[in-house]
Amino acid sequence: MTPSITLNDGRTMPQLGLGVWQSPPEVTAEVVRMAVEKGYRAVDTAMIYRNEEAVGEGLRASGLADQVFLTTKLWNADQGYDRTLRAFDESLARLQVDSLDLYLIHWPTPDRNLYVETWRALVKLKAEGRAKSIGVSNFAIGHLQRVIDETGVVPAVNQIELHPRFAQAELRAFHARLGIATESWSPLGRGHMFDNPVVAKVASKHGKTAAQTVIRWHLDLGLIVIPKSVHAERLAENIDVFDFTLDADDLAALAALDVPDGRVGLDPMTFN
Ligand SMILES: NC(=O)c1ccc[n+]([C@@H]2O[C@H](COP(=O)([O-])OP(=O)(O)OC[C@H]3O[C@@H](n4cnc5c(N)ncnc54)[C@H](OP(=O)(O)O)[C@@H]3O)[C@@H](O)[C@H]2O)c1
Repeated sequence: MTPSITLNDGRTMPQLGLGVWQSPPEVTAEVVRMAVEKGYRAVDTAMIYRNEEAVGEGLRASGLADQVFLTTKLWNADQGYDRTLRAFDESLARLQVDSLDLYLIHWPTPDRNLYVETWRALVKLKAEGRAKSIGVSNFAIGHLQRVIDETGVVPAVNQIELHPRFAQAELRAFHARLGIATESWSPLGRGHMFDNPVVAKVASKHGKTAAQTVIRWHLDLGLIVIPKSVHAERLAENIDVFDFTLDADDLAALAALDVPDGRVGLDPMTFN
């Protein structure tokens, strides 16, 4: 069974969920239904993934929609107080739900300079109970500090690129000080971790696959992890991670993989 993380608003969130970026809309409903059948109790989508309708359909088909923690994200072009409130309603309509477990600002897009007023809209949605928890994604320390200073409300979650090649120690330490839960996107490094000999060695020691070993690394670091797959056997593999833990030697070996240019995605400081 998937353990949970307690967020700074008192609510709990499953530590492992399904990511659906690049999951094509025509297969996503069935992928989500299968994932729930295999034990997943969290799904991470976004307006820009163009599959919110399919996620909602898959959750309803699973018969367990009310037990699945659902996250979606506000796209950059929808930032701004009023636009955010409208975009939120549109996401709920596509998902066919009355409320969300977690709503995230997808990127800070600093050049727009709208993320503080966007955050105020999320604070309103939380006060109304329609977004049960609110957070951000791709926020650097300066972006987090600014929303907290200007609104007094600390995000529950910051979803950031994080995997053994890009371990984000400084940002994680900042989150820990403020009680912000860290959620890892591209947790498998989009496949870049699979042919790594260090990962392979740790995996073979535990009789697990490279993917399972990397997912376990996230869990053992106290991170929330949302690996994506559209394949039934990989969905099963990626959640079969609760019968082992990494020891200090394993963690030290994997820590050595962290490199400054280990990013596989966009840089939040420049992506607008
Ligand atoms: N907030 C953001 O800005 C942001 C950015 C990127 C991602 N995300 C979120 O994070 C989620 C995960 O990130 P991601 O999709 O970029 O990358 P990822 O989960 O690190 O890797 C996904 C890739 O690995 C493959 N894969 C998955 N399990 C595997 C296994 N057991 N064995 C071999 N290959 C496997 C998948 O292929 P198949 O599907 O073909 O199996 C896919 O190509 C996304 O879906 C999204 O929800 C958020």
